Amino acid sequence: MVGFLLIICISYYVVATSLIRMVGDSLFDEKVRAEQSTVAALAVEFAPLWKGDGTDACYDALLEAGRQTGGRLLVLDMDGKVQLDTFSEYNGMRLYLAEVSTLLAGERTADYGFHLLPGGGQRQRFSWLDLFSGRDRDSIWAGYFTALLVQDGERIGVLLYSSQVQDMVDSLVSMRDQMLYTFLLGALAVSLLSLLVSHWITRPIGALSAGIEQMAKGDFSSRVRVQGKSELAQLAETFNLMSERLENLDNSRNQFVSNASHELKTPLATMKILLESVIYQDDMDPNLRKEFLQDINKEIDRLNLVIGDLLTLVHIDSHKMKLHREMMPLGESVREVIRRLAPMAAKRRQEIEVGIHDECEMFADPLKLQQVIYNIVENAIKYTPDGGKVRVTLMRDGRDAVLKIADNGVGIPKADLPHIFERFYRVDKARTRETGGTGLGLSIVQQIVRLHGGNIDVQSEPGKGTTFTIELPVK
Ligand SMILES: Nc1ncnc2c1ncn2[C@@H]1O[C@H](COP(=O)(O)OP(=O)(O)OP(=O)(O)O)[C@@H](O)[C@H]1O
Ligand SMILES: [Mg+2]
Repeated sequence: MVGFLLIICISYYVVATSLIRMVGDSLFDEKVRAEQSTVAALAVEFAPLWKGDGTDACYDALLEAGRQTGGRLLVLDMDGKVQLDTFSEYNGMRLYLAEVSTLLAGERTADYGFHLLPGGGQRQRFSWLDLFSGRDRDSIWAGYFTALLVQDGERIGVLLYSSQVQDMVDSLVSMRDQMLYTFLLGALAVSLLSLLVSHWITRPIGALSAGIEQMAKGDFSSRVRVQGKSELAQLAETFNLMSERLENLDNSRNQFVSNASHELKTPLATMKILLESVIYQDDMDPNLRKEFLQDINKEIDRLNLVIGDLLTLVHIDSHKMKLHREMMPLGESVREVIRRLAPMAAKRRQEIEVGIHDECEMFADPLKLQQVIYNIVENAIKYTPDGGKVRVTLMRDGRDAVLKIADNGVGIPKADLPHIFERFYRVDKARTRETGGTGLGLSIVQQIVRLHGGNIDVQSEPGKGTTFTIELPVK
């Protein structure tokens, strides 16, 4: 900001001085022209009167002319000696003035010059601006204008006319003073304004950097106030969006870790109780011991499944999951999954109805899609009471393969529907504990479908049943 002010100061100084010089030059030029023609006319008038001896007739005429012009008139002889002075002060004296000597030497016929005359008047009121003017207030500026007196082609003397130009200098000085005042006021206003503007600009930046600092410390709850529509406001908005996302991410990560730990802890605790019974009860019935060991084995299987699901999700999250696409008929994958799940359905006396209306040949990852179908059909079987019915249909709809898995099971309450794709989300915690679910299946399913550029949707009515619809683009 100092640099900015310095540039303004220098440019103002340059402009102001050249303006004053221009005005001053034109004023002085005009003065010189006017006074030179006056003195030339007077020289023509006085030459015949001047006899070289200071005649009264010439002196009277000189006094009269002095009164009329308001200046001082002197006549000098060719030796440079004053012969007549309307102020009767320099009579008989020699004046060493350049304006006179150039005429005496015959270099010119008219000349002029400006001089600062030391005055003897009263000292006037002091103004601090005098410090800048460089002039003592008692002295005044005067202009000397000279012209040759010529009689019959012969140079007989010099007429010197002195008139004060102090008024002119004064008006220039006051003009300069006004410019100085204006400049000081302007500079003050500019400084104040730039202070205000810089404060106005830097305040939101300060708030932003404070927010970023807080974020760097691991606190994602900071938000910046958004005002207006400027680029800075957009930046603040983007920052808020980013911190909101990070906060959500941070929360869901924490939740994920705590849920995962919980899921792993439960089977471990169960296994510990079973194992301790086996270890410390020496007289345990061998059948019961076997049963306990089988339970432990089941818990290990469950742990394995949970860890497998967790690893899959970590894989998806870190974008490491790659699809191994190949040309495959989706219908075949559906049949394969149904074959694998048929014993489970049979155990529960459930009927699985399969309707494949189109093979839906597509470029996709067969193993991952089988995982998708397996999860959904397994859910349908799990959450449908014994003797229920599951219907699986596959058909083409334009560029999409549409797979519907419908059951007439317990259904999902409306309030739970938006959450079922969330990790670890289970509608009925107690019920699913028996069926062994962890609540990760649907979230993995959704990720795989999305990776294929597809979409998964659910419709359900509690007590009546649930229908999952998967749309996959056939490439
Ligand atoms: N067909 C369905 N009928 C009723 N509820 C369902 C159905 N499918 C899913 N749900 C509900 O949605 C929840 C989440 O399903 P998800 O498959 O993600 O988890 P899970 O089956 O409990 O466990 P996992 O699949 O990880 O073994 C289930 O716990 C269940 O409450
Ligand atoms: Mg499931």
